[in-house]
Amino acid sequence: MTDGATPAASGPGYLPGTDMPRFIRDMMAFVGLGDDDLAAIRRSAPVVLRHEQRLTATLYDHFLTFARSAKFFLREDGEVDAARLERRKHSLGRWLRESAEAALTHEFSYYLLSVGLAHGHRSQATGAIPPHLMIGAMSLAQTALAGVFESELSHEDAAAAAVAWNKLLLVQLSVLMLAYLPPRPVL
Ligand code: HEM
Repeated sequence: MTDGATPAASGPGYLPGTDMPRFIRDMMAFVGLGDDDLAAIRRSAPVVLRHEQRLTATLYDHFLTFARSAKFFLREDGEVDAARLERRKHSLGRWLRESAEAALTHEFSYYLLSVGLAHGHRSQATGAIPPHLMIGAMSLAQTALAGVFESELSHEDAAAAAVAWNKLLLVQLSVLMLAYLPPRPVL
């Protein structure tokens, strides 16, 4: 540390899956996701919800343009499984809506863990969604949201919303990544 501050003493490690609210709180503190950010996310919620379908379609259209991500949405005959895609868009819409509420509750923290497991522990023939695609998907979500904020909000509100969502999405990503790592205590 360069400013002479002493880091707070850490307690014994804990397994994130045994206390997801704590893991999320710790990550929020680490990225500096504070009350102002949560307020900016909630203020942006009406705009996000108005564009929910466009945002989810943007992500899935993108997934379909790359063989490495499209393969999770194809039928055995190689055609896009439209019904499955619609279900996936619906799931992504729910995630977006709940994220926009920024209610980082006990229930939401375990919901996020289950979303991670749904990607990282799949038993289907196509296997797990690779972790680098999950990371890339968060980047796509950040870009799509920033575009919506820029077109709908004042410059100042758009910047605040983009900064706050970036923090929130990467806290979420740290939860999704737990599904890809062997369980081990964190500090
Ligand atoms: C920003 C990152 C992502 C988020 C927030 C997200 C969100 C979700 C949610 C909420 C579900 C429903 C989970 C459940 O039923 O419990 C889901 C399922 C699924 N997602 Fe994603 N997703 C992401 C990235 C991806 C990527 C990159 C792919 C593939 C390229 C993908 C493919 C799938 C598939 C195949 C399922 C169905 C899982 C199963 O039940 O087999 N997702 N996603």
